[in-house]
Order: sequence, then structure tokens, then C-alpha cells
Amino acid sequence: MHSRYRKPLVRRFTVRRMRLLTERIEQVTAEHLDAMAQAGPPADLVTAFAKPIPSVMICELLGVPYADRGSFQRQVDVFHSGEVGDEELIAAYTGVQTYLAGLVAAKRANPTDDILSELTEGDLTDEELKGVALTLLAAGFDTTANTLALGTFALLRNPEQLAALRADPDLADGAVEELLRYLSVAKTSLRVALVDAEVGGQTIEAGATVVLSVNTANRDPERFTDPNALDVRRSGGGHLAFGHGIHQCLGQQLARVEMRVALPALFARFPTLRLAVPPEEVPLRPETADLYGVRCLPVTWDA
Ligand code: HEM
Repeated sequence: MHSRYRKPLVRRFTVRRMRLLTERIEQVTAEHLDAMAQAGPPADLVTAFAKPIPSVMICELLGVPYADRGSFQRQVDVFHSGEVGDEELIAAYTGVQTYLAGLVAAKRANPTDDILSELTEGDLTDEELKGVALTLLAAGFDTTANTLALGTFALLRNPEQLAALRADPDLADGAVEELLRYLSVAKTSLRVALVDAEVGGQTIEAGATVVLSVNTANRDPERFTDPNALDVRRSGGGHLAFGHGIHQCLGQQLARVEMRVALPALFARFPTLRLAVPPEEVPLRPETADLYGVRCLPVTWDA
């Protein structure tokens, strides 16, 4: 069943297709950096930069019309925050579901140049298409937003790493992989054992739920030297930040291109960028949130 959804998506998220988006990501990034510069310091980097860039990209890929984006993104925000009660959560979730049902119907009636319209040409039902759109949103927006915000935080807290990155643009690809490893924002994955299995001397019975700790794997001292250190000179790769196996992240190339474009552009545009509060005062997301992240990231710079 899972491959029925995954297969048509895989070829829409290839390295080649995502690289073709680079120019658009550069434009969107430049627009947000311009707006930040124009408003002047200080700024909340989450609302000014980390959230809107992946959000605009996923909306454009899915084909969410520009006029609908504001209210739609607010609802998506609510169900990702990990900080609202059940009632508000259900209201936001229902709102997004209703919106997506309308969007799928609109794409069927009037296909436009986007992934959802393309998928209407296949054999997925409306209900399935709505599910695919919701999965892409749930999986693809907050993950990159949190990686961008926490990535900036991590680099600002490790000035020698940021200086190395600024001095040698060739380090950028490796730095993106290292940030993905170091931050591991999607901290856990769940699986159900289909057969009895033994892992690391532990017996896992068929039917048992297994919680996989992505961040522990990404800080395995047997795999990474000095795993708790952020080191942009590491050769990158080999991490499990995008999962592994049949559920491995479909949007990983998009996430990579977004980070590769947005982070160097931010540091180039604001050479004196720094935290506007002591690091321990940056509010982190609660443990109950499904992704690691910061609620906001107050930054300032010399205008
Ligand atoms: C830094 C950003 C991202 C991180 C860290 C991340 C991480 C992950 C992880 C760990 C999984 C596997 C979950 C599991 O095994 O249970 C996953 C799956 C997935 N991701 Fe991402 N992701 C990111 C960005 C994106 C983006 C931008 C998109 C789409 C536009 C996306 C779409 C998906 C989808 C559709 C799946 C489910 C694949 C399946 O079940 O077959 N992700 N992601």
C-alpha cells in the first residue's frame, strides 16, 4: 500500500528536479533577507527566515494558491507546535484537511503546474491525494524550518565553525550534512516488528512497536569521532537524519538544496549576525514536540 503512494512521488523529488528549483529558492531567500534588512535589527529568525522559505517552497510545489497561503500556513503551524491543547489541535487539523479536500478537487478540475495536479493524472483517489498532500506538508515543512533555525543557532554558538565556513565556501555541502547529523531534528522513528527479531542481544517480538532514536544513532561514537562536536570539516554523510530503508525521506534533496542556498546567503548578507539574547535564553521547543526546534531565535546585526 505504502509503495502505491511513494512510487509516484519518488520521481517528482529527484536530485535533478530539486536542483532545477535552486534558482527559485535563491529568489525566495533573497526576498526574505531583503525584508529582514529593510525592517532592521533585531529580528526573529524563525518568522523572518527559517519558516517562510521552506513553507513557500512546499506550497509552490503542491500548488497552494498564493492567496490561501497565510491562513493555511497558520493552521499547519498550530499542529506542529506541540504547544496547543487537543481542541485547538483538532480544529487546525480539520481545517487543513478541509482545505486540502478543496484543493484536490480544484486541481482535478483545473490542473496547474504543480505536483498535486500531476498526481491527479495517476490512479490515486481524492482521499489518497489528500493524504499525500498532508504527508508532504507534515513531513516537509517544519523539518527544514527547524533545521534552518537550529542550524543558524548552532553556527552562531560555534563561531570558529562559522568562520571556517565563511572562509571556505567549498565546505558548504559538508556543513549541511554535518548540521543534519548534529541537529537530527526528526529525533525518532517508529516501526512495528513484522517477525520476531534479535537486535543487539534484545529480542523484539513480532507486533512490538520499536522506537528508533535517530539522534542517538547520529551521535554514535563508534561511527563519528567526537560525535557531540559540530565540525563542518567532517566529510559529512553516513548520518541517518533522513531515516533509512523504505521510508527514507522523500524530500531530502529539496531540504539539502534549501539549506545549501539559504544558510550561506544569510551569513553573507549579515556578516555581523549574532544572537540578540544570551544562548540559554533562546526558548527551545518542549520535549512533547515531535521535532527539535527553537520557538524563536532573536538575532541582531550592525545595520
Ligand atoms: C531537514 C529536513 C528534513 C528532515 C530532517 C527529514 C527527515 C525525515 C525522516 C527521518 C524520515 C523517515 C521517517 C521514518 O523512517 O519513519 C522522513 C520521511 C519523509 N520525508 Fe522528510 N525530512 C526533511 C525534509 C523533508 C521535505 C522537505 C519533504 C518534502 C517536501 C519531506 C518528505 C518526507 C516524506 C514524504 C517522508 C515519508 C517517506 C515514506 O514514508 O516513504 N521531508 N523525513
